[in-house]
Amino acid sequence: MVPLSPPGPEVLGDDSRGPEAQGAALQAINGYMESLIDERIADPGDDLFGRLAAGPLREGRISRAELVSLAIMLLMAGHDTNAKMITLGVGTLLDEPGAVTRIVSDESAAHAAVDELIRLHSIGDDDGFRVATADIAVGDAVIRAGEGIVPLARHANHDPAIFEAPERFDLDRNTNLHVGFGYGPHLCLGRPLARAVQAIAYRTLFAVIPTLRRVADEPRLIVTGW
Ligand code: HEM
Repeated sequence: MVPLSPPGPEVLGDDSRGPEAQGAALQAINGYMESLIDERIADPGDDLFGRLAAGPLREGRISRAELVSLAIMLLMAGHDTNAKMITLGVGTLLDEPGAVTRIVSDESAAHAAVDELIRLHSIGDDDGFRVATADIAVGDAVIRAGEGIVPLARHANHDPAIFEAPERFDLDRNTNLHVGFGYGPHLCLGRPLARAVQAIAYRTLFAVIPTLRRVADEPRLIVTGW
């Protein structure tokens, strides 16, 4: 397997490092995934990419380049999101001991916490670039067909007309209308998995380490886009 190279703190979604650093990071991850896919092509095995290599790739229904980009997309969409969300979620829950007790003893409370934390932190906002295909009236403004839009889920998820005291974590609020997993045709494909992973993570962590506490006020967490 090709190691991720160059080693160092290159971060794909970190806009502050500039396009060259991002390009280098993208090339590095691309090379890494190419080597993983080539391993699966040589010896498919039974994991997701082994099956895709043995089936659709061999039958010519998908290309090697498509498999590589699918692997990168799944790493970012499927792993990075959960890793960041769990970090932020634990940070929030450390201030909510009453909620933690409920989460550990009641699975449905854990699922409620997952969606409330996703609403509160709205981490998926970096991916929302769109182009209007028709004129759209939003309040007093009109977005013209062809104009670019960056709709931020955070604003919808923190709309006080929908979510009372939106900056507050509330385990009992109705989160049905949050758009932290997107909306419409691109609604997150992995949301059942994401919900299960996060609920298990919070329940397990606080059950295994019930004494988990902050030892100091942490510096504000900076979470880069995905
Ligand atoms: C905290 C966890 C997650 C959050 C907050 C999240 C959020 C999102 C959001 C906001 C979108 C829509 C992007 C857009 O409209 O352009 C999306 C799409 C997607 N997500 Fe997730 N996601 C999470 C976890 C996962 C996981 C675990 C997987 C798969 C293993 C996954 C796979 C996908 C895929 C494949 C899409 C693209 C769907 C499409 O364009 O048709 N996500 N996600």
